[in-house]
Amino acid sequence: MIEIPRYIATLQPYVAGKPIDELAREKKLPRIVKLASNENPYGPSPRAVEAMRHAITELHRYVDPGSFTLVHKIADTFGVKPSQVITGSGVDALLSYTVKTFTEHNDQVVTSEGTFIGIYVNVNKHHRSLNLAPLKNYAYDLDAMLSRVNPGTKLIYLANPNNPTGTIFSAEQFERFMAKVPKNILVILDEAYFSYAKSNPAYPNGLTYNYENLIVMRTFSKDYGLAGIRVGFAIGPEYLIREMYKVKLPFEPNFMAQKAAIASLDDAEFLQKTIETNARNLKRMVKAFTEIGIPQVRSDANFILLLLPHEQLALDFNSACLDRGLIVRHVRSFGIPNGIRVNTGTDDETTFAIDVIGEVYHSLMKTAAGVASPMER
Ligand SMILES: Cc1ncc(COP(=O)(O)O)c(C=O)c1O
Repeated sequence: MIEIPRYIATLQPYVAGKPIDELAREKKLPRIVKLASNENPYGPSPRAVEAMRHAITELHRYVDPGSFTLVHKIADTFGVKPSQVITGSGVDALLSYTVKTFTEHNDQVVTSEGTFIGIYVNVNKHHRSLNLAPLKNYAYDLDAMLSRVNPGTKLIYLANPNNPTGTIFSAEQFERFMAKVPKNILVILDEAYFSYAKSNPAYPNGLTYNYENLIVMRTFSKDYGLAGIRVGFAIGPEYLIREMYKVKLPFEPNFMAQKAAIASLDDAEFLQKTIETNARNLKRMVKAFTEIGIPQVRSDANFILLLLPHEQLALDFNSACLDRGLIVRHVRSFGIPNGIRVNTGTDDETTFAIDVIGEVYHSLMKTAAGVASPMER
């Protein structure tokens, strides 16, 4: 019998959005719309599809472990040196490499409650410890995070916008925060939703800073519609990126992912269409949910967090949406047990979501009121 290390046996694994195929196997439904994983409703850029088609015939070759062409393309696009760039199988992989490269067993990672589940899993799976500051009005409380920093802290994780709340901190707040973080503590700034938030003038672009203790991460999973092929990148000071290359699995991102990412960076038109569709449908969702009367958190991303009165209602809400073919995300595993996250879709998918959510919310609240009133009497 193999003894499983305690930190693995007790590890709470990553909880993903329900796949469309899984729901289709479980229920016979005329239509299924998935708005549970903040994906791009348009799929990948047509240029990326074309690049992957060409790449198929070269899959017998190992990839260049340094992703030379992709790294140079990213460096050119974002105005940094190639030696400041590392790519990986999504931000999730890069988070794993960062924790492994810069921390040791039992070192502490400070972040927030109610943030991206990927950081919780990556810290715990490497046997490091989490020190979580509470959210304040569903947004990061950077001062509370600073107050958690102690001699055992090696790393701080920030997602801006945050997932699952969609909130941002401003450039001013970030600069004030960085001025107080000791220089021997590494800050990861995860900008997975950069493209959606950048129209907000208060939003900081992490790549415009030159802190010696800052690594910025971006992904092709959201705005570029490449979630299924796994590709993301990190940009930071050379002396840090160099160390991460020692830890990275050599042949990732895979060949197709590299080709798709390079082609995506040339498709400004696709990116613009994605950003505009999101802005339009986020506005429609906010308006509709306000009219329906569902409490929600103001978002600068491609999703909204809805707040149900308590966890059981969030569970009921989730399963009532599934019964009607709408996959949303109950975000208990992110630390918000009464939260339901729903992302924007195409215009038509967004209409479907608004209709389903309105119907489900009204019927749940009616039942909840009916259950509550006799007890109140
Ligand atoms: C804040 C944040 N970071 C990272 C990721 C994952 O990105 P990737 O698909 O590149 O692993 C997500 C996905 O939900 C996210 O919300």
